[in-house]
Amino acid sequence: VDEEVEKLRPECKQLILSLPKERGWRTPHLYLYQNFWCQPKEIQAIISTQQHFRATDTDIILATIPKSGTTWLKALAFSIVHRKRFTLPEKHPLLTSNPHDLVPFLEYKLYANNQQPDLSGLPSPRIFATHVPFASLPESMKMSNCRIVYICRNPFDTFISSWHFLLNVRPQNLGPSSIEEGFDMFCKGVIGFGPFWDHMLGYWEESFESPHKVLFLKYEDMKEDITFHLKRLAKFLGFPFTLEEEREGVVEEISRLCSFETLKELEVNNTGKSIANFENKSLFRKGGVGDWVNHLTPLMGEQLSKVMEEKLGRSGLTF
Ligand code: A3P
Repeated sequence: VDEEVEKLRPECKQLILSLPKERGWRTPHLYLYQNFWCQPKEIQAIISTQQHFRATDTDIILATIPKSGTTWLKALAFSIVHRKRFTLPEKHPLLTSNPHDLVPFLEYKLYANNQQPDLSGLPSPRIFATHVPFASLPESMKMSNCRIVYICRNPFDTFISSWHFLLNVRPQNLGPSSIEEGFDMFCKGVIGFGPFWDHMLGYWEESFESPHKVLFLKYEDMKEDITFHLKRLAKFLGFPFTLEEEREGVVEEISRLCSFETLKELEVNNTGKSIANFENKSLFRKGGVGDWVNHLTPLMGEQLSKVMEEKLGRSGLTF
């Protein structure tokens, strides 16, 4: 039995041992829980979240698959919602806190390590983040009027970003892993919270079904026109920019503050750890679009294109 599994609550351990498993990226194994791949500790935290988290109508939930722009989305949503409290740019919390400390993950922070936090006293709107697929979100998120924002990134860059990140955080005792091996797993859907296509499609479909509930954003679109998408995001969250704010350049100020270039240079993002035991530094790599061509062979590119065509082709979701 994995050491990771041994440490869990007995009922979780029991459940996990009954699940299909595959070789993991940074734990010995990933397990298929409710049709997505997950590490043992994450499954325990997700079960706690599903059982105990109670969404309220004013909550904001940021949902992503890892490495698709979570840090950016957290910074943007926080800045939009709290812009009246922090009008002086030089006093802004993002200058001294990593976005993951301002917008906590349900499964990595609040419900991690068997914790059951009391979140009822937090001022509204509360902003939380999760990597859990739509189908497995806590019931209260689906039943309440809380708003969910999903950011999606093209799978080529998401894979390369995951690959670099995992090279950094993979424990040495798991031995080396080649990019070819990682790529094959990714194409088979075996990646944390994957398959990526199911993750994307769950939120994609819901964004048509309930457009007031789920906003579906794309990393590439935001890179291309942040002003437009920032305004769209603010409106969706119920904090639209006024004409006066637009005239004063508030939209540009927020996009500049949350940009990769600004955040990457800050001392707080070059030291310390804000999620699990990951160095904040490792959350900021290149922050661009299309870096995959520098790492994948044309053949690998074709292989992933085929997977995307097969899995996403009919959905209308394109990159
Ligand atoms: P790269 O590895 O391609 O550089 P996540 O935040 O979901 O973990 O995603 C990490 C990816 O987002 C990394 O991509 C990282 O560099 C990039 N990123 C981090 N902060 C960003 C920002 N403010 N704007 C744009 N991209 C950002």
